[in-house]
Amino acid sequence: MSKKLFIETLGCAMNSRDSEHMIAELHEKEGYETTDDFKEADLILINTCSVREKPVSKLFSELGVFNKKKKADAKIGVCGCTASHLGDEIIKRAPYVDFVLGARNVSKITDVLHKPKSVEIDINYDESEFAFKDFRSSPYKAYINISIGCDKSCTYCIVPKTRGEEVSIPLDLIVGEAAKAVQNGAKEVFLLGQNVNNYGRRFSGEHKRVNFTHLLKKLSEIDGLERIRFTSPHPFHMDDEFIEEFATNPKICKSMHMPLQSGSTKVLKDMKRGYSKEWFLNRVEKLKSICPDVSISTDIIVAFPGESDEDFEDTLDVMRKVKFEQIFSFKYSPRPETEAQHYTNVVDPDVASQRLTQLQALHTEFVDEITNAQEGKTFKVYFEELNSDGYVSGRTDNNFSVRVKGSEELLGTFRDVKITSCARTMLTGELVD
Ligand code: 5AD
Ligand code: SF4
Repeated sequence: MSKKLFIETLGCAMNSRDSEHMIAELHEKEGYETTDDFKEADLILINTCSVREKPVSKLFSELGVFNKKKKADAKIGVCGCTASHLGDEIIKRAPYVDFVLGARNVSKITDVLHKPKSVEIDINYDESEFAFKDFRSSPYKAYINISIGCDKSCTYCIVPKTRGEEVSIPLDLIVGEAAKAVQNGAKEVFLLGQNVNNYGRRFSGEHKRVNFTHLLKKLSEIDGLERIRFTSPHPFHMDDEFIEEFATNPKICKSMHMPLQSGSTKVLKDMKRGYSKEWFLNRVEKLKSICPDVSISTDIIVAFPGESDEDFEDTLDVMRKVKFEQIFSFKYSPRPETEAQHYTNVVDPDVASQRLTQLQALHTEFVDEITNAQEGKTFKVYFEELNSDGYVSGRTDNNFSVRVKGSEELLGTFRDVKITSCARTMLTGELVD
């Protein structure tokens, strides 16, 4: 009987791809098959996120539950960003943990498995050319890393300390991976990196000069590849060349994530984001002027140290001007090893909660307006998921989720759908072809 692997993945899309890599390595080299039930697993992995404090504190209670209820000889490994930043402290606090594997050491998964109590968290370890074994959680869409690490020094962010300095993956490897995924049936690729549009800044070996726009052009030459998505671009690197390629290349999906973080130029400066409110609005204006159907999503942090009522008003002002289709909003959470953890001008927690509520309420207002306006329109939808309630769902080019009544023949196909009703996160429609 095969050995069973249970893996829980927290955090971002990079972490999801890291989990796919670990599943593939463990399957090919050690014969593991995945299970959804940790009680029957021989190996339990938690792929952690450390970007905010809450998930980190939850880790130890979760580990306790795993330890109590797991099979007697099952191993437990802690991977990902919290593994990178807490290191052997994890084994000190939870001595039953068998190994700790940092976010930049994923390729060592089959080594640590056989080294009791090993802690591999070197953030200078270079995995940019490692040939991971193959595994994709969806046959329709391929997540592909284009860089590892992050070179920015945003004062609130722990990621440069958990994922190390930024290294781009060679262009030929990315194009080869995309072509192979397409051969295996995927029609969409999703490019991943902390700052994708800083691609090409540094390679670990010799490499010709390239940037993200070159990479997008090269990928769009692949026959059979129909959609390209990516996350996250950085507003600072959104030059005209990039925005023009985004707008005019028909294979690039018209959905842009633009992490604003704050609408106040003063707070942006304190965060060391490298752009102002005006620059952000200017980039949005340029984008919308040549790509009117684009949908824009964002990340916002409220109550960063020193954020005044006026600063917060600037964030609301940008919200009203841009009308983001989707926002991911958070209260500032001080993180170890960051510059901002030492800032003393903290915002009162009640004020922070009020601001988050106000921001989210404003967003809800215009999100309903945006989604309701889709009724009666026809979109090309790429179907990717079979739901249990007789619906099949997929996404439009500009990232709306759409479902229609149907069955698995629709999976992996593009179909025109006319929208008949709208709810906040899902449009429902009928096939028109
Ligand atoms: N506190 C709150 N939110 C944070 N993020 C990153 N660091 C912090 C922090 N210390 C948010 C940012 C980032 C997203 C992934 O998480 O908005 O874009
Ligand atoms: Fe992803 Fe950042 Fe969380 Fe690491 S800390 S998993 S890079 S969101």
